Amino acid sequence: MDNIILIGYMGSGKSSVAKALAEKTGMELLDTDQRIEENENRRISDIFASEGETAFRDMETAFLKNLLDEGFKGILSTGGGMPVREENRALLKKLGKVIYLKTSVDTLAMRLIGDHSRPLLQGETEESKKQKIADMLASREPAYMAASDAVIPTDEMTTAGLADEILTYMAFA
Ligand code: S3P
Repeated sequence: MDNIILIGYMGSGKSSVAKALAEKTGMELLDTDQRIEENENRRISDIFASEGETAFRDMETAFLKNLLDEGFKGILSTGGGMPVREENRALLKKLGKVIYLKTSVDTLAMRLIGDHSRPLLQGETEESKKQKIADMLASREPAYMAASDAVIPTDEMTTAGLADEILTYMAFA
């Protein structure tokens, strides 16, 4: 089977679905955020705080290039901003089948309201956070759509159900 690449906004379920897919298929699981944190030996929030977003985006691009060079095989869960750069979209496409986990603002807001780990949503109040999510999602949606081979709505779905749907797609892709 081709590699499976999950993209989508923060809180769309990429990490959980990737884990379920890895368990179901026995394929290797790789999470770009987690690997960048391990490589850098610090949290993403620290990278944003000390070097800024562009430096983090450069790390993401370098990481994808490295995966391609190494001939990565498996399930890849990506950071929510990964597809925003055109260069990254091209790299993701080369790496495997790109699946966009499309999630509504209401669901994302519900999941992210008590979360303080995402630097791009820090400093927001509960009310302003939902608006920020809506604005960011609207501006990113064209990039997510352009990057993806398949779009899977997640709102009404369980993690296991999403993994099954993706595997069905992969069987015919
Ligand atoms: C980001 C999403 C995060 C992480 C970083 C930036 C984004 O990943 O890469 O905080 O720009 O949407 P998750 O989507 O796994 O939360």
